[in-house]
Amino acid sequence: DAVPSAIRPLAGLTVTISAGGTREPLDPVRFLGNRSSGKQGVALAAAALDAGARVRLLAAHMEVPAPAGVELVQVETALELRKAALHAAADSDVVIMAAAVADFRPADVSGTKIKKRDDVADPVINLVRNPDILRELVEVRDAASRNQLIVGFAAETGDAGGDVLEYALAKLHRKACDLLVVNQVGRDKVFGEDTNSVVILSRAGSEPQEASGSKSDVAAAVIDRVSAELSRVVP
Ligand code: CTP
Ligand code: CA
Repeated sequence: DAVPSAIRPLAGLTVTISAGGTREPLDPVRFLGNRSSGKQGVALAAAALDAGARVRLLAAHMEVPAPAGVELVQVETALELRKAALHAAADSDVVIMAAAVADFRPADVSGTKIKKRDDVADPVINLVRNPDILRELVEVRDAASRNQLIVGFAAETGDAGGDVLEYALAKLHRKACDLLVVNQVGRDKVFGEDTNSVVILSRAGSEPQEASGSKSDVAAAVIDRVSAELSRVVP
């Protein structure tokens, strides 16, 4: 390979990226979903391809097309994403969980369309918690002593109980992933904008790193940081 490793720092490596938002079915025609577009995950996939990686994209309902050249795995629910992620992680050097995973799913899924009925009370939706895929990926990696970099994403607003960074640091330690990319939502940020402003937190304790700009700019900064972390671990 004549291209210098500084230009293709992820050459020879496999990167798995989840993107979009899961949909949790209520019945054959209805689901609980979220507003994730998949844009940031797709931008990450493109940046990882640019860096020379083999890229697997675990796509949970995305509003944008997957970049050409990725290995696309389509999933619907958090449970499907969990299965796909654990499978893909087994031979990945890097796993980036950019998908918005539903925290809860309906406890019961009706096999037939739920109908309005005047002789029966209106339904109540009971929810059960979905598994924490990111946490599980870290546990599996550590149990296997695998050399793998795991990156989480978090959108935080901060509230009376704590500010964005306090919540993000607590999440980084709870999830035990290597890097946590924190999106500051709410604070002078407008939903639907194509730009992003993030802070990359590292569990190894290096200084928080800010990145902002288009989702492609942010993706490039995250992939640069991933490359830097990998070259620290494996010189
Ligand atoms: N995530 C996951 N599995 C879940 C929920 C979240 O793998 N069941 C991942 C997301 O893909 C993201 C990270 O965990 O990379 C943080 O997601 P977030 O929703 O911010 O974290 P939660 O632990 O669900 O905390 P919160 O109560 O703030 O939603
Ligand atoms: Ca959540």
